Amino acid sequence: MSKENRINFSSKMAVVAAAAGSAVGLGNIWRFPYELGQYGGAAFLVLYILFVILLGIPIMLSEFAIGRSGQSDAVGSFRKIDPRGKWWLIGVMGVISAFLIMGFYSVVSGWTFEYIYQALTNQFAGKDSASLAAGFTEFSSHPYRPLLWAVLFMAISAGIVLLGVKEGIEKSTKFLMPLLFIIIIALGIRSVTLPGGIEGLTFLFHPDFSKINSSVILSAMGQAFFSLSLGMGCMITYGSYVNKKNKLTHTVAEVTVLDTLVAVLAAVAIFPAAFSLGVNPGQGPELVFITLPSVFAQLPGGQFWAVLFFILLSVAAMTSIISLLEVVVAYVTEEFKLKREPVTVAVTLAVLVFSVMSSLSFGVWKDVTIFGLTFFDLFDNATSKVLMPLGGLLISLFAGWVMPVETLRREISNAGELKLKLFNVYLFLIRYIAPLGILLVMLNF
Ligand code: TRP
Repeated sequence: MSKENRINFSSKMAVVAAAAGSAVGLGNIWRFPYELGQYGGAAFLVLYILFVILLGIPIMLSEFAIGRSGQSDAVGSFRKIDPRGKWWLIGVMGVISAFLIMGFYSVVSGWTFEYIYQALTNQFAGKDSASLAAGFTEFSSHPYRPLLWAVLFMAISAGIVLLGVKEGIEKSTKFLMPLLFIIIIALGIRSVTLPGGIEGLTFLFHPDFSKINSSVILSAMGQAFFSLSLGMGCMITYGSYVNKKNKLTHTVAEVTVLDTLVAVLAAVAIFPAAFSLGVNPGQGPELVFITLPSVFAQLPGGQFWAVLFFILLSVAAMTSIISLLEVVVAYVTEEFKLKREPVTVAVTLAVLVFSVMSSLSFGVWKDVTIFGLTFFDLFDNATSKVLMPLGGLLISLFAGWVMPVETLRREISNAGELKLKLFNVYLFLIRYIAPLGILLVMLNF
């Protein structure tokens, strides 16, 4: 696509909406709480925030700068900036990661559809957490029911991607995200005021640093990449649609703060309730799907809140999966000069192969494992613990050492228009701290 007809987000708000729409999703509300529950509570939170600040912010800024400067997809942007190097392979790795992430993400997204349905038909009412847990297991292990929801979810997402970046994403994020925010706060208040809820807050905010070990550190770092949609070309692709006037530093700051806030609020909604209702905080992917329905059962007008919450959660998941689809669709259409429509359909069908494998991991393929992991866990671990950190490492090396500093400065300062007080801090982080930090964590010190 030539520079002239490249799609552009229409306003500053739209950029933030799209990037935040990508970042805020199941990663915040589903994955963050369950990882935190498994990896020791507050200590995990402290590490997570440290990674967001030291790695997340500089890498997100770099991805935006690479995309906006390269004016191309996740692969093409590297090639535009450095035509002779092999750095474009980072983009290829990103495209592969996108498939794996969508494979398990689509399944969990499908679960949110089932939960809208269960809320609509008032199935949480009067159930305790044990029977909600049993209900979850029964549903998730069903051979095709979760898959039908995943297919429906992918079909709608693909439809939105077909409508184009602008129409599809901007609208849903601008109106529905703030609503999700409000609901999570309301849930948080209910959860904290449940009897025994304070114990959950202690778990969440009173760090026990003896719980930190190398696997906690790696998980916290992986979660930071996952939640901020980093290390696989997503923000590069979106960066290429960002208008030259947009202040990248502001966009990064807003997206990061929003994303972190939603994750922490989700944890505040979940842990006090889990402790109060006797749900094991370390039980894994089903945590949200058991804990929150238990809270809804205790809320006046619970059914209404439950329906609204799961609708909004599925919207948040959709704006995220759209950004993942866009990475692949932009790459294939631009690099192979193909039409958007057939590419979107083909990519979606290919993703569904991974969805089937992930979904069956909870049922008939429970015992099919590779490296001791089910397909679902394999796709999840391979991306957030290997591919995304590796992508982040290479992106920081590219931005810090390969991309000319002047190009970087021009992108971040909008051709000298903005004063950059912290540019040297950024440069130091991206050149030394990010690559060394990621390497140390990945090599287990
Ligand atoms: N960040 C999203 C979430 O938290 C998921 C996501 C969207 C993502 N795009 C990504 C994760 C790219 C990794 C890479 O739900």
